[in-house]
Amino acid sequence: MADQRKILIFDTTLRDGEQAPGCSMNLPEKLEVARMLRSLRVDIIEAGFPIASPGDFEAVQAIAQEITGCTIAGLARSMEKDIERAGAALAPAAQRRIHIFCATSEIHRTYKLKKSAEEVIKMSIEAVKFARTFTDDVEFSAEDATRTEIGYLAEVVSAVIAAGARTVNVPDTVGYTVPQQYGELIRELYARVPNMGSTVISVHCHNDLGMAVANSLAAVKAGAGQVECTINGLGERAGNAAMEEVVMALRTRSDFFNATTNIETTRIYPASRLVQSVTGVPVQRNKAVVGENAFAHESGIHQHGMLSKRETYEIMSPQDIGVPSSKLVLGKHSGRHAFKDRVEMLGYGLSEAQINAAFDKFKVLADKKKDVYDADIEALIDQEMESHVQVWTLEGLQTTAGTSAIPTATVKLGREGETFTDAATGDGPVDAIYQAIGRITGMHLTLTDYALRALTSGQEAQGEVTIEVENDGLRFRARGLSTDIVEASAKAYLAAVNRVLTNRNGKPHPPATI
Ligand code: KIV
Ligand code: ZN
Repeated sequence: MADQRKILIFDTTLRDGEQAPGCSMNLPEKLEVARMLRSLRVDIIEAGFPIASPGDFEAVQAIAQEITGCTIAGLARSMEKDIERAGAALAPAAQRRIHIFCATSEIHRTYKLKKSAEEVIKMSIEAVKFARTFTDDVEFSAEDATRTEIGYLAEVVSAVIAAGARTVNVPDTVGYTVPQQYGELIRELYARVPNMGSTVISVHCHNDLGMAVANSLAAVKAGAGQVECTINGLGERAGNAAMEEVVMALRTRSDFFNATTNIETTRIYPASRLVQSVTGVPVQRNKAVVGENAFAHESGIHQHGMLSKRETYEIMSPQDIGVPSSKLVLGKHSGRHAFKDRVEMLGYGLSEAQINAAFDKFKVLADKKKDVYDADIEALIDQEMESHVQVWTLEGLQTTAGTSAIPTATVKLGREGETFTDAATGDGPVDAIYQAIGRITGMHLTLTDYALRALTSGQEAQGEVTIEVENDGLRFRARGLSTDIVEASAKAYLAAVNRVLTNRNGKPHPPATI
């Protein structure tokens, strides 16, 4: 359809998504996700919150340096030091956006900012004007807009547009609104703000009541021109609107929305897999669009219908979102070429050196395990990306445990060519390993989460252990993989120790951001 509106997709997986508990990513992982977002053809990548930590600054800067062809955004509070930091991190980007926010609702003004309505308007205007000294592309977000008095919200929107904001975001920060009301709010803003001109109205919905996608779509219907969203719906608390759902709803129901996006939908599935893999946060089986069951038809009636005509029970095809047409399995006879093809199909953009290193590991795994599935390959590449932050390596492990034995572990670790061995007892074999690692490394981390799952089906499947630890108020997440779950547990803990030591990716607890 020729006259369809183009809706801009602003991806905040690397900022709001990464802010979610347990979703932290290190620099190589963020770069990998940014490359994927680029191949998805998102219009804007929000790469992080540069003032939040040196790691955030470094990530935004690295993404600004490498990723071209879309706008790179950095978040800043309405404060000079935040804006300066965002401006500096974004400086290398060809297209850069400073995204400023200031809370506007009465509850936030009174209890969080402790500022009057007039003061909030003044600081918002000053922030936008200051940001414009770094770039022409400034977005302003009225945090908690959906709980802000409409007359006042319209005043703020008008003031920041006059100050130079080209995009104004109307966030449903706490996931409070409902579709009809949110659509009305967007219409009201168009009606009440006299200088709206060509300003893009953006929407940013949280999923506390499960309506983030529905609210975003209602806003599009009401005239919003940009949707802020994340891969797999990651984000603070219950998450943000899921990009794959917003995009596929607009595409599948373009008859209703009369709108389109620039997204290359065949990259949706690889993007979802990549984000699951680097964050260690899997999507539920029945998740819309990208869940394992999204295209599975179990009942006989459905299967019969599908065989006669696919559209009887499918409104999208798996190919539309890039689900691989075959669940191709690799094995020990697979060559480097087949391996590389599969890696590329899974969405990774690895260098030749990385491919070679991953291929060597694949061969070792294929010797232990007859069939190597996509999930195994993804895990293997993640381990490869992790390898550059290795300070300690696991060289050997022995445990004894049983109903009447005291669980004991002997652990051998390597560091800079030297080997260190120690033993410890614990509540169980895993605890004993963690105690022994603690004795050798001198790092006694508080384990706050431990999860074990089989990566694929079958007896010989690899076990994946995902843990979260706390050290000095910072939380770190790490994973370990092995066909032996005790070894996977040891690897996960050691990966966490390495992350702490290289001080990558620590997240304040609770998040000291917004
Ligand atoms: O939820 C929110 O209000 C935000 C803003 C910073 C846009 O994340
Ligand atoms: Zn948010």
